[in-house]
Amino acid sequence: MAILIDQNTRVIVQGITGREGQARTRLMLDYGTNVIGGVTPGKGGASVLGLPVFNSCKDAAASLGPLDLSVLFVPAAGIKEAALDAIDAGVKLLVLVADRVPVWDAMEIAKAAAAKGAKFVGPNTLGIASPGRAVAGMIGGRAESAREWFKPPLPGGTGVGIISRSGGMSSSTAYYCGQAGVRISSIVHIGGDAVLGLRIPDIAALFQDDPQTDAIVVFGEIGGSQEEELAELITSGKVTKPVIAYIGGKAATSGTRFSHAGAIIEGNRGTHAGKVGALRGAGATVVEAFGELPQAVAGVLRSHGSKSLMTDAERRAVWTTGVTRIEPNSVAVRGHDIAGLMGHTSFGATVYLILTGKLPDEKVGRLMDAILVSSIDHGATPPSCLAARTVASTGASLSASVAAGIMSINRHHGGAIEDAARYLGTLLAKAKSLTTSAAANSADFASALEAIATEEVTRIKSSGDRISGFGHRIHTKDPRTARLFELAAVAGLSDRGPTHMAAARAVERAFAAIGRPLPINVDGALGAILADLGMDPRVFNGLFMIARTPGLVAHVVEEQTREKPMRRIDPVNHAYDGPSGK
Ligand SMILES: CC(C)(COP(=O)(O)OP(=O)(O)OC[C@H]1O[C@@H](n2cnc3c(N)ncnc32)[C@H](O)[C@@H]1OP(=O)(O)O)[C@@H](O)C(=O)NCCC(=O)NCCS
Repeated sequence: MAILIDQNTRVIVQGITGREGQARTRLMLDYGTNVIGGVTPGKGGASVLGLPVFNSCKDAAASLGPLDLSVLFVPAAGIKEAALDAIDAGVKLLVLVADRVPVWDAMEIAKAAAAKGAKFVGPNTLGIASPGRAVAGMIGGRAESAREWFKPPLPGGTGVGIISRSGGMSSSTAYYCGQAGVRISSIVHIGGDAVLGLRIPDIAALFQDDPQTDAIVVFGEIGGSQEEELAELITSGKVTKPVIAYIGGKAATSGTRFSHAGAIIEGNRGTHAGKVGALRGAGATVVEAFGELPQAVAGVLRSHGSKSLMTDAERRAVWTTGVTRIEPNSVAVRGHDIAGLMGHTSFGATVYLILTGKLPDEKVGRLMDAILVSSIDHGATPPSCLAARTVASTGASLSASVAAGIMSINRHHGGAIEDAARYLGTLLAKAKSLTTSAAANSADFASALEAIATEEVTRIKSSGDRISGFGHRIHTKDPRTARLFELAAVAGLSDRGPTHMAAARAVERAFAAIGRPLPINVDGALGAILADLGMDPRVFNGLFMIARTPGLVAHVVEEQTREKPMRRIDPVNHAYDGPSGK
């Protein structure tokens, strides 16, 4: 996870019904932030952008469950009350957007937060952003722009962490680093007030521990001692990642306030020269002009062969795909060099790789091959074959004819794989709800599953409902099922315990027990096995298309070479005249 927020962080917005609250919640949702509700006292029961509104964070937590982070779009006058509400409700991270928060209120919030182990960013902050994952506050504006400007680390790669004391410059620093080809792990605007929650040294420590951050970029300012404290962390070896900084306010003299309340030089403390000297003395790179910062960052990254640097094409990209990377003389599927896969990895294993992002072990690869083979063809009567042959008989091209066949693969043709997987999943969930999780592998679970299956079969018998994955209009014992289950066992899957395969077996037994044998058919077997492999049911119909395509090609070519155009194709009365044998 990125520091402070990622796509799974459960976010609530206080002041969600207000002007900024509504507008920014829309942008946060667009970006992918997991906003689950909002709070405005007196407006509980309302809904904003489809999200429920509560009177207090306590009510929100009671209804929605634990809340990880709250963004407060509440004006300064109400911020203390709102923050204490969030802290009391167990929220562990607050983002206090409001400016002009009284110092005493900020101090009371800090005390309450410390007592409950909570942290806060701000006040007077634009918030935090973890590119590609989530934003809390106002960094980045429109989601499309933010996606284009701030590129996240690649899987297994890194980015730089940005800490800024200026709101506007937090986005600008990230933007110009991006233009210089630098990926960003997180951006934190710590706020410009004199009393703050998380400060530069705290965020630097988080970046130091973050495996996706390999350098820290700081937009500092005169005033206070945050930059000097960071220098101490570097000197003491607590921050070892490269630090590249710019300190604003060089021209300010003692007593001048530089834009923000916290940016003031008092006597000799907090001067520009003092901060630059401390950071440089500790080994950080400090640039004189802001315009030099992006290239300085890129230069430091280049010097240590960083994974935070982008190619020009990656820098120009306005959208991304995680499926296949194409570069001159290189093709990589889900990060695996295609030449390396060829000759070593079977087609089934590679299909698994492209659909799940993971390369399976050899046994699962063999199982995937068997899955594709099991559905390669089922004669001339299925709708996809009839559709492909009918279109082929008009003189249509191979692609049009095969596409016609593919287009008939749908909910009622091939769709039973997904339906069966989902149905077996509901039986498993019911059985799990009858047993404790600790007992999920035990005899208790097996008897709960058996009871659920019996209940289901009784229900189906009286309602006349059909269930996907059981019985076949031709086969009383589908030859493909037994073989698939056999290979699944070899691959380490089990038809016992809390598995879809076990649920399928339980239903099959329950049907047999009432004297109505409805064996698991190939779709039921495939649905159960693919679900037990942890694959997303949304791809199951696609897997069927992949498997059936060679069969369709064979039928289309045969139709166009053997038969007369525009013949009337009898859907039933035809015979096989290919080679005999097994
Ligand atoms: C925080 C801020 C953005 C709010 O502005 P706003 O959205 O225009 O204010 P609104 O009055 O429209 O909305 C505030 C909402 O908070 C609600 N609110 C007040 N107290 C609350 C509490 N304890 N809990 C939850 N919500 C509360 C209000 O009821 C109001 O909602 P409503 O309009 O439905 O009644 C603004 O006050 C501010 O500080 N702006 C500057 C921010 C900034 O620049 N930060 C620094 C960046 S560098």
